[in-house]
Amino acid sequence: MSVFEMPDFDAHEEILFVRDEKAGLKAIIAVHNSNLGPACGGTRMVPYSNSSVALTDALRLSRGMTYKSAMARLPLGGGKAVIIADPATAKTEALLSAYGRAVEGLGGRYITAMDVGMTPADMPVIARTTKYVAGYTQAGKTGGDSGPLTALGVFEGLKAAVRHRLHTDDLKGVRVAVQGLGAVGYDLCRHLAKAGARLVVSDVASARVKLAEEEFDARAVAPTEILGAECDVVSPCALGATLNDASIATLRAKVIAGGANNQLAEDRHGVMLKEKGVLYAPDYVINGGGIIRVAGQIFAWSDSEIEARVLAIGQTLMEIFVRADREGLPPNVIADAIARERVAAGVIPRESCECS
Ligand code: NAI
Repeated sequence: MSVFEMPDFDAHEEILFVRDEKAGLKAIIAVHNSNLGPACGGTRMVPYSNSSVALTDALRLSRGMTYKSAMARLPLGGGKAVIIADPATAKTEALLSAYGRAVEGLGGRYITAMDVGMTPADMPVIARTTKYVAGYTQAGKTGGDSGPLTALGVFEGLKAAVRHRLHTDDLKGVRVAVQGLGAVGYDLCRHLAKAGARLVVSDVASARVKLAEEEFDARAVAPTEILGAECDVVSPCALGATLNDASIATLRAKVIAGGANNQLAEDRHGVMLKEKGVLYAPDYVINGGGIIRVAGQIFAWSDSEIEARVLAIGQTLMEIFVRADREGLPPNVIADAIARERVAAGVIPRESCECS
């Protein structure tokens, strides 16, 4: 099957296949859409079983980035890159440099950042051969760890969902089950505890659970029990595809609002949640804090501007929920529709890219 006939091909503008034998580099860079600005999205380094699986990932993820940036009102398009190799054994300076040269060759049409398999230490190495790289600590620029801003955005989005579905602005006594206590989940717990929410938590790392029990007076449950816990809100902040036939059947919460990427195993699970009366905050809208931070570094925005944009996530979700009610459709369908409308209209003002 050719690329153009692949089910996940969605009028992608440009796909670059990179092979550098000497450096051991095999990579695919996908630019989905640049109507709103240069394509931006992370580099994922994974030992894919074959190049079709890798290409499918690049096609899907780059489209997801177009939608995510559009919903965060960023002057960025969507792109994503995959390096086909095991980061534990194959990551060398030569490979990262060769990859940087490939990114540079696109002349700024794609700006890369971190994703699965890449670490903060890899980014300065890539930056030696390309200036089109962002989302890591750079002297004199905003940036660094995006976890806290992602958590802040999830907190704002969660409040909007609670307001819409549970009709209250007060989180005091609202029971929230947080799955995953990493950079995003743990910081989210901090905001929730401060607002008076009652926390149920779970993580496969017992040390994180113990910390949350001590710091937030959280109640711990086993990882297999968190999604079906007795609570008002479930906040998936660990893995993708957690909302599936089996887990939705056990849900007792009325709201799903969490930071994890790709929470719905399939789009139809958005319909199942709606039919069950559960309000789902579309993942790529509520977790937009990370890409907003990356954009802030690219366009040299002040910390206060970045924060204001993250706080606006609550308002964006409110608009999605209201339109979803009006049109009788699940919020994930409405979010996709709004993203496509914004991309087609090209309404977000372009700004000059600092790294170009
Ligand atoms: P992280 O790696 O810091 O934390 C993930 C946590 O989930 C870890 O503590 C891990 O032990 C735990 N976990 C793994 N499997 C679990 C299971 N079955 N049950 C319960 N806990 C489990 O990752 P981070 O940065 O907190 O990200 C969390 C999610 O949010 C991921 O899906 C990520 O893709 C997404 N995200 C993160 C952003 C960021 O800025 N860090 C931005 C946008 C999305």
